[in-house]
This record gives sequence, C-alpha cells and structure tokens, in this order.
Amino acid sequence: MEGSSKEQASENKTSLGNFTARYAKADPRSYLQRDDESNSHYWFRRLGHLKPVELMWSESETSGLNRVLTSWQLVFIGIGAIIGTGIFVLSGQAAAKNAGPAITISFIVAAIAAGFAAMSYSEMASMIPVAGSAYTYAYATMGEFVAWIIGWDLILEYMVGAATVGVGWSGYFVKFFAVAAKVQFGESWTKPTVEWDEKTATISYEPGHYFNVPGFVIIMLVTAVLCIGIRQSAWMNAGIVIIKLFVILLFIFALCAFVDRGNYVPYVPPNTTGNWHFFGAPGIFAAATTVFFSYIGFDAVTTAALEAKNPRRDLPIGIIGSLVISTVMYIATCTVMTGAANYELLNVPTPVTVAVDEVQRRTGRDFRWLNIIVTLGALCGLTSVLLINLLAQSRVFYAMAKDGLLPSFIGKVHPRFKTPYVATIIVGTITALLAAVLPVDLLGNMTSVGTLLAFFVVHAGVIVLRFTRPDVERRFKIPGGKYVSLLFPICGMIISVLLIAVAEPSTIWRLFIWMGVGWIIYFGYSIRRSKLHRDPVGHFSHAQTEAPETVKHDSEGLQVQEYEYVPEHHNNSHRA
Ligand code: ALA
Repeated sequence: MEGSSKEQASENKTSLGNFTARYAKADPRSYLQRDDESNSHYWFRRLGHLKPVELMWSESETSGLNRVLTSWQLVFIGIGAIIGTGIFVLSGQAAAKNAGPAITISFIVAAIAAGFAAMSYSEMASMIPVAGSAYTYAYATMGEFVAWIIGWDLILEYMVGAATVGVGWSGYFVKFFAVAAKVQFGESWTKPTVEWDEKTATISYEPGHYFNVPGFVIIMLVTAVLCIGIRQSAWMNAGIVIIKLFVILLFIFALCAFVDRGNYVPYVPPNTTGNWHFFGAPGIFAAATTVFFSYIGFDAVTTAALEAKNPRRDLPIGIIGSLVISTVMYIATCTVMTGAANYELLNVPTPVTVAVDEVQRRTGRDFRWLNIIVTLGALCGLTSVLLINLLAQSRVFYAMAKDGLLPSFIGKVHPRFKTPYVATIIVGTITALLAAVLPVDLLGNMTSVGTLLAFFVVHAGVIVLRFTRPDVERRFKIPGGKYVSLLFPICGMIISVLLIAVAEPSTIWRLFIWMGVGWIIYFGYSIRRSKLHRDPVGHFSHAQTEAPETVKHDSEGLQVQEYEYVPEHHNNSHRA
C-alpha cells in the first residue's frame, strides 16, 4: 500500500482527502434509484457510474481463464502486435512522400509519442490488471458510458486493424509466391470485392474481384489457434516473432555494408512549397503521424492480463519492453533501407524488397535469397499482428459481456481450452469477412484515429485515478513524483488530439458515424443490461465473499459497507 497510514490519516483531513475517501469506499446502494429520484435523473446518473477497482480485482480472480503467460511471453505478445504493416509497408511510403531519409527521425518522434502512452498503460495495467484494456480503465475512472464508447472504439483498433492486416497479408502472400516460385496468382481471388475511392468517398464493386481468399483463410486459421488455447497461441506467437526479428536483423546486417552514403544526401529534403506535408522539418512530423501506426499494438499486452502469471509486475515489462525493442528495430531498418535505395523509389507496397533489389542492381550480387526471406518475414510479421489483434478484441468483448454490456453468451469460457471461444469465433468470422470484401485503405485509416482516442482516455484515466484513488497500489508509477509525472499523460493527451486533428476529414466523419452506431446499441440494449446496476448489493457482496484471500489481503478487502443482503427488487429504501 502506498504511503503510511499516518500520511493517509493526515491527507484525509484535507479536502483532497475527503474527495478521495469518497471514491475509496464503494457503496453498492448508490447504484440504485432512490425513492425520491426521478427516472431521468437516475438514468442520467447511471451513465457516470464507476466500477470500483476492487470489484474488478475480485471478478478477475474467478475468470476461469488460464494464467500461464510469463513476462517474456508478454514482451513477445507486444512485439507480435507492433511490428507489421508499419515497417514493412508504410515506412517506405512515408519516406518517399513526406520525409526522405529523415524518416528515421519520424520514427523516433512517433516512438516518443507512443512512449507517453506506454507509460500510462503501464501504470493503469499495474493497478487494474484485468482484461479489457482501455475499456476497463475508462469504467474505473470515467463511468460506464465512456467505457462503452471506448470499448466500441477499440473495435476499430483491434478488429478493423486485423482486417486491414488481413488484406496486407494477402498482398505479401501473392508477392512471396511470385518471388520464391515465380507463380503469379490472379487478382480475382486475392483481392477484396469492393474498392474505396477516398476522394469521392464512395464504395464501388471492382469487376473481376470476387473474394480475398488468402486473407479470409489466414484469419480463420488464426482464430482456430486462439480458440484452442492461450498457451498454444502464445507459443505460436513467440515462434513467429522470433522468425520476424531474425528476418529484420538479417536484412539489417546483410545490407548495412552496401549502404550508399549518397542516398542520405540531402538527409532532410527541402520542403516543397504549397503543402506543409511534403519534406523539410514539417514533413518529418507529417511522416511521424503516418508511421505512428507502426507502434500501435503494445496496448494489446494489457488485454491478456487475466492470462498473465504475475500481471502487476509483468504487464509493464511487456508493454515497455516490446516498445523499446521495436523502436530499435525500426530505427535500424529505416537507416539501412534509405541508405540502400534512394527514398524516391520506396513508394511501393513492399519497400524493403525494393531496397534489396537496388543493392542487387548496384553491386551485381545475387540477393534473391534475401528477398525471399524478407517476404517470408513480412508474412510472419503480419500473421502475429493478426493473432494478437484478434486475441485482444476477443478479450475486450469478453470483458464487456461479463459486465453485461454485450450478451452474456459472448463471455463464455470453454471448459477444456479455457479460452473465451464464443467471442473469439465471432470476432474471427466478422474480421475474415471484412478482410475478404473491403479494401485496405477504407479500413486502415480508421484504426489510427480509433487507437488515438483510446490513448487519450487512458491518459485521462491515469490523471483521474491519481486524484480519486491515490490509495491503490501502483507497481509501476510514471516517474517524476506526484505532479511532474502528470506532465507525461498531459503531453500524451495533447499529442493524441493533434494526431487525430491531422487525419483526413472523411476518416473523422467515419469515426463519428461509427460512434453513432455505438450509441444506438448502448441506449437500445447495453444500458438496461449492465450488471453493475442489476442487483448491485448482491453483486458486491458476492464479489467480496468470493474474492480469494490474496485479493482481500492486497486490497484490504472490498470496502463494501455492511448491509444485510436482500435480493433484487426488495430493498426498502431504494428501487432496483
Ligand atoms: N503496429 C502494427 C503494424 O504496424 C499495427 O502493423
């Protein structure tokens, strides 16, 4: 517990102390409608009801999921989710269009922005190590309505993100067979059915494109592995991540001796007049907003909290460890890639293979083997991003179903495999269909803004909990003391807003439409089904008695006020 009881006592005398004491004691009856309370006031008040962290801890102990993940497996889950399309596709395109060789600096800028978020997620995860990620953190800090919005928003990050990667996977699959076996697949069964035109914001059927079979099949295969077990999924992920890291290191070491220093001149190409996005110092920032996508994924580590052996200690290790390793890999890859090939050549879907081709052309050496391995590495990289995104999405749905905001069958855990198999099958099937039918650009743009919105809420949550629940233990605390440390989440919030602001207007519109659909579902279904409000007294008492001794000891027990438990609808002073 943080601080001695003496300090706590003196703090309690201050007004801040009174303020925090209000949050430290959960009164389950406050979730019920008072006799003298109007319906509209009650329903409005419900939107802001917080779920106490102690209740989350107790529930997490009886989840039925398998606690098997170690700290290094969590680091690998992070790397599995992080390294993918961003480095294998976007890096080259952003270098060619926005930053030139200074794309390396863009990656450093984006890493700093991601680092702020990683710290906030780490502090949250070390306090509330339960599944659900930003959704759960919002429930503990900003109430049910914001939690729902963020849970709904996370679909954009994880499920739509996975569908995007499924489309990219298909592209690399075709490329791999073309490079390795000189087999050319037709487009009819390897491309999505419809096309998206960003300028006119219209979707149209693309004649001759029927169904993206490779994207559909890989997503269904990954879904099957996820259903079978977290242990199997973690091992599959670890294997893929090792291959992916090996391939990136091979690319770096094989080509670093063949870098042409002339390609680094000018390192920051002059800004082309008329548009701040193109080159010069502003271009570096424009590219940073694009490659920020490359760092998305470390937060997925937190969704595996219920399956981690020692989540309070290991989740921060998983988040920060994976981000640091990925950042080093990105910087080295970009330095070599822009040294091997002139940045103007990199505006292609597979820029790393262009870098290999250029070295081959310049030196006359045969590097076809490297291109085959690099393409295979990219395929592995994208597979692990798929795996972790689907894992994360199914855990978020599981958490929402357990809270009653989604139908309860979605939260079912398989008796033998101990996985949330219903959520996994639903998520996998929808994602596979999205990847088979919709184009990558329509899907991809929404992932970044959706993620940034979630980051914003997590930063805000850290600040809120510092004031409302300073008493709760934080195994990881953002460094800098009581007040200076808050600068990190504040900067993180500002960066999130700025990055959302520079997104395409049509993407922002789509975000609003998506949120509108979420509101309809919340007010039409979830608000009435929320478990926090259905028999809260029984729910809290049950959590208190069911919580194992370890939780009671850690949390000094659930500080529920003593009530005689009267089943739903029979409480004298409150209406249920
Ligand atoms: N960071 C992940 C990628 O680059 C989303 O594919």
